[in-house]
Amino acid sequence: MFSIGRFAVENLETGCVTDEKKPSFTWYVDSDAEGTAVESARISVNGWTWQGKDPIVSYEGPSLRPFTAYTAELTVQGNHGESAEKKITFRTGRMETPWTGKWISDASYTFTEKKVSPVPMVFRKNFTPKGKIRSAFLYATALGIYEADLNGTKLGDRYFAPGFTSYKTNLEYQTYDLTPALREGTNELLITAAGGWAVGSFVFTRVNRQAADRQAILCELRITYEDGREEVIGSDESFEVTENGPVRMADLYDGETYDAQVDLSKADFHKASPETLRVHPRIMEDLGSPVRVRQILKPVSKTKVGDEWIYDFGQNFAGVVHFKVDGKAGQHIVVRHAEILNADGTLNTKFLRTAKATIDYTCRDGVQEYAPRFTYMGFRYISVRGADDIKITAYVLSSDLRRTGSFICSNEDLNRLEQNIEWSSCSNLMDIPTDCPQRDERMGWTGDINVFSPVACYLFDMSRFFKKWLLDVKAEQLRTGGIPNTVPVNGYGFPATMPEMAIDFWGDACVSVPWNEYEARGDVRILKDMYPVMKKYVDACRRWAGIGVGLHRYIWNTPSVLHFGDWVAPDVPKMQQWQARSKWTATASLCHTSDLLARTARILGYEKDAETYETVSKKTGEAYQKILTDGNGTLENEFQTGYVLPIHYHMFDEAAHRKAVENLDRMIRANDYRIGTGFPGTPYILFALADNGKADTAYRMLLNTKCPSWLYEVKMGATTIWERWDGLSEDGSCRISDDGTDMMISYNHYASGAVGDFFYRRIAGIEKTEPGYHSFTVKPLIGGGLTFAKGQVETPYGVIESAWRIQDREFSLTVKVPVGTACTVVLPDGTRKQAKSGTHVFTAALQK
Ligand code: BGC
Repeated sequence: MFSIGRFAVENLETGCVTDEKKPSFTWYVDSDAEGTAVESARISVNGWTWQGKDPIVSYEGPSLRPFTAYTAELTVQGNHGESAEKKITFRTGRMETPWTGKWISDASYTFTEKKVSPVPMVFRKNFTPKGKIRSAFLYATALGIYEADLNGTKLGDRYFAPGFTSYKTNLEYQTYDLTPALREGTNELLITAAGGWAVGSFVFTRVNRQAADRQAILCELRITYEDGREEVIGSDESFEVTENGPVRMADLYDGETYDAQVDLSKADFHKASPETLRVHPRIMEDLGSPVRVRQILKPVSKTKVGDEWIYDFGQNFAGVVHFKVDGKAGQHIVVRHAEILNADGTLNTKFLRTAKATIDYTCRDGVQEYAPRFTYMGFRYISVRGADDIKITAYVLSSDLRRTGSFICSNEDLNRLEQNIEWSSCSNLMDIPTDCPQRDERMGWTGDINVFSPVACYLFDMSRFFKKWLLDVKAEQLRTGGIPNTVPVNGYGFPATMPEMAIDFWGDACVSVPWNEYEARGDVRILKDMYPVMKKYVDACRRWAGIGVGLHRYIWNTPSVLHFGDWVAPDVPKMQQWQARSKWTATASLCHTSDLLARTARILGYEKDAETYETVSKKTGEAYQKILTDGNGTLENEFQTGYVLPIHYHMFDEAAHRKAVENLDRMIRANDYRIGTGFPGTPYILFALADNGKADTAYRMLLNTKCPSWLYEVKMGATTIWERWDGLSEDGSCRISDDGTDMMISYNHYASGAVGDFFYRRIAGIEKTEPGYHSFTVKPLIGGGLTFAKGQVETPYGVIESAWRIQDREFSLTVKVPVGTACTVVLPDGTRKQAKSGTHVFTAALQK
């Protein structure tokens, strides 16, 4: 069968509304016939036709008009005379059409209290259509987070609109198709706006009013009548507003307070007022991956502990509860959330720090349902007080990302680890890449996504998510070139001590994220867009390295308190000790980012830059070897990350490289194969071993169940990836004491899940040799007693699969090769084979 596997605009197959002047089309064909190739492909839209074979096509036709529906047609011819076609429709958004509506708020609402979130506002507009409607669209945004309802029904299915961006520069708006829901006579549009990130209390210091003094909304309803007349109703003083709606309190960390007894029709609505904003962002159509319900979970157990019911969902995740109850007016139901339990079976909420993560619901009479809309929590357990008979489920929330990758193997513990990685990704890809979903952070920590982005790009199509987030990275870059530790900054950014600084590994995300996304999807535009940012950042790093105390111009030796160093390394107990390793981690980071920058420059044709940064990278590597080791690859005070980075980044000469590998291997054996790396070393340690002849050590480390190790967490019942390797002791208690991090203990942090990359690229063996997997190798690394492994990844050309099995000392491998790609298969005995598109089976005898 020759068919279109995927045809998308701006990476969406349906529902795309875009302000892009040159939207991109992506497509591929599926075929089960061997050796199929695309002869020619054609995309026609708006009187423009493209012809070629590239899987990513940028629209180059006549200017697109705003507020317009377009249909694009794809026709593909195969080399065996087959053909296939598909159509998609998309809409353009406002495309910078000036807003008829104006920003409105409630001038009578003043809110000056610190560390809390404002009372949610409800805006109301009643309107009557003036004839038969052909179409009606609502365009809306807010400072704060909002939800719109038309005639009592929620519009759309996303959470936390308009999304989290760097509000001083970028703000998204959403488009809602009201056509089917509008009725003759009076219609009621309600918009509830809570504080969210822009106005509400956020970051661990609980700062509020970051982007605005109180919530404000901007919207416009555009109606086209059957007879061609147009009507535009913009937000203005004819809208009404009240703070006396049913949502009494909403805060991202603290939860929601809801009074179901409130009758909104009787609330004290008064005239909304025009609002002058402090920020003047570009307002653009949604371009990321909005948060939606990904899955619904049912509790697996319910236990009475004292006066509360403890429910266990059997899975740690990010989301909200949903309940149905037959209540009495005034009855209070309080739901609290936690990731772990205390020994007595009650919730352990200590590590949420200031986040109250509590739902306080007041019932009206009768059967009622409720799920919070303006908050979320990270939890596995809940405590319910005030209702014995209640039907509870949970909505798992996450950015709506298309799943592209999977991995499974014969070891059930590794499969659980893979699932934990997936759960932690969903929990932390929440409109922006966050560190954790439960405590008073949930911030866009750059270091976390720096290490995790290869895995994210394998598991999901991250293109839209990263496109949006990188706009903020660009917006937040300092004049001096540094990248704030959290993007969007929204109340945090840099340690106050050194606000102009570039910080290794964390800031590196501005280089690694575009690079990893480019590698995964092959769309060079992300590199073009980000190149100036990447270059400015690497220049800043060079400068900071250059002014380091004494030593050498390529040794980045600024005071360790300004770095995170070997963050959460389990072999030393204190934060200051992780930071004290920053000379090594920062120097390695400079070597790596300058190397990626040089490669990017080469791709973009900036030859001079390519040479310059190649030299920086080389000299930095040499300096590390010469000054930070004994000159021959041995560290005076050995630590795993100190070897992993130079080995993986190829920073040393050959002899020193070999020595470093031996040193690392020796250290790991002496440590009983337990891991000792922090954020910087964890993603690469298994590669550093396996790629240098130490596959056995790599597998033993991966499969180790002694603390600290990946499978220790699994053995302890983890259902997500922990922030701290030793998050729970064998007896189930948490023994981490004051280590300088203010009880920084989360059970849902994806950073050390970066090991997933090893599953896909080494165990399943799928390794791209050209961006977007245009060419790739399949070279499974057998070991660890595994008898079966399968990896799949949907690439811009279609789905690649590598599935291997060992039976009776015979190795067999099934490889699926997408149309338009070239695959080299390397069998365990070293035999190399070329595979064309189609499905192929290879076998090899294994040595005794
Ligand atoms: C976050 C981390 C982050 C780190 C940097 C923590 O509180 O949760 O994941 O990268 O701070 O210091």
